[in-house]
Amino acid sequence: MTSKPNPAPFSINNSHIHNPPFTKNYGDTFLIFKAGKGAWLQDIDGKKYLDFGSGIAVNSFGHGRKDFAKIVATQMKTLAHTSNLFTSFPTLNLAARLVATTPLTASESGTPVEPYFAGVHLGNSGSEANETALKYARIYAKRKDNPNGHKILAFKNSFHGRTMGALSATWTEKYRFPSEPLVPGVEFIGFNDLEALNATLNSDFCAVIVEPIQGEGGLCPMTREFAASLNQLCAKYDVCLIADEIQTGLGRTGTFYASEQMGLQPDIICLAKPLAGGLPASATLVRQKIHHQIHAGDHGGTFGGNPVVAALACHILNLVQADSFLPGVQAIAQQLRTGLTALQKHFPFLGALRGAGMLIGIEINHPGTLESGSPELLASLIDCCKQQGLIVLRSGTNILRLAPPLTLTATDADKGLALLQKALTVFAKSCSSTAKP
Ligand SMILES: Cc1ncc(COP(=O)(O)O)c(C=O)c1O
Repeated sequence: MTSKPNPAPFSINNSHIHNPPFTKNYGDTFLIFKAGKGAWLQDIDGKKYLDFGSGIAVNSFGHGRKDFAKIVATQMKTLAHTSNLFTSFPTLNLAARLVATTPLTASESGTPVEPYFAGVHLGNSGSEANETALKYARIYAKRKDNPNGHKILAFKNSFHGRTMGALSATWTEKYRFPSEPLVPGVEFIGFNDLEALNATLNSDFCAVIVEPIQGEGGLCPMTREFAASLNQLCAKYDVCLIADEIQTGLGRTGTFYASEQMGLQPDIICLAKPLAGGLPASATLVRQKIHHQIHAGDHGGTFGGNPVVAALACHILNLVQADSFLPGVQAIAQQLRTGLTALQKHFPFLGALRGAGMLIGIEINHPGTLESGSPELLASLIDCCKQQGLIVLRSGTNILRLAPPLTLTATDADKGLALLQKALTVFAKSCSSTAKP
């Protein structure tokens, strides 16, 4: 057997590493951070960056939290892992706390409601949470004697993760194609397309999987009419309505669940990203009718709900559920939106604002032509931001995504807007100097 020569060795310059020994799926050049405090990160050369990406909407409480470190260290010393053949109080506490959450629309009438959820599967990543939800929907359909009801309805521009099931319900061709053939039985229709929904959904389906706001797919929120039809049609055909709240849940959009804002009443909610303060964790919450149909051996995993992760996740829930927390998120989000509206006046290539709460999108058009921007144009703006010391994200092909820590201070919000203004100025200049005559 012949072996190929080793790949080029890695090299580091200007705080960036080239060719690290990672598989290349994330690229081949990375900025190396060494520390973080609050909303700020520091690279290995000491340059500071304001973090408006939060590790893709994970670090909702910023960096360098001593309270997090203490909880993790204490639990690590006490009991780090049991497997799911056994359990522990941190794991039980987390499950009970999550199951007690309710999308508030369920109690809008003001009358006490039945507990919304009955059970939770604890896992390790967003993809795993969705994978679990899709399996549960199939199991539910089979056990209630609808073996033909195996189809899954998903939406154009959706993103549900990279494992085979979650990827099969993800729209983006670039992510799908290299791994095809994917899991069969998934159909896509337009997001918020009522006519297509009415024409497509029937009892051949076991699940509809949907993001209340499409996080990777352009930050379009679901309309209230669409949510109402999803509620009604899923109930009519007894199809499991799965809300992927992996990016939007746990306060990111200004309410505990984004579903509350459009009146969506899911049978299953998937959470992950910020759930355990930066440690890997996910939750798939199910209502009674589904809980009832899941039997021993149907699903499982070695690590999910691990006591260390669970202890920290309980602390995160304390923080998010504190009375003053969500109003604080809404206030700082409003400050950012007001600042961004002012920037739109300076920079005509900034289009509409999207998203909700602290998940904010801004359409980026070409500064020269004002035509819709491209992924390359967006990448160059993200790079300008990085050079100015501001970390931001992309969504879709032409949406700049801001997802700062939910604990962002008013001072840091203003600093972020000022850095963005500088980056937009450099970006606009660079576009005009490279514009074709
Ligand atoms: C809405 C949504 N669903 C699922 C996922 C997948 O989560 P993970 O990367 O933790 O597997 C993501 C990740 O960005 C997401 O934004």
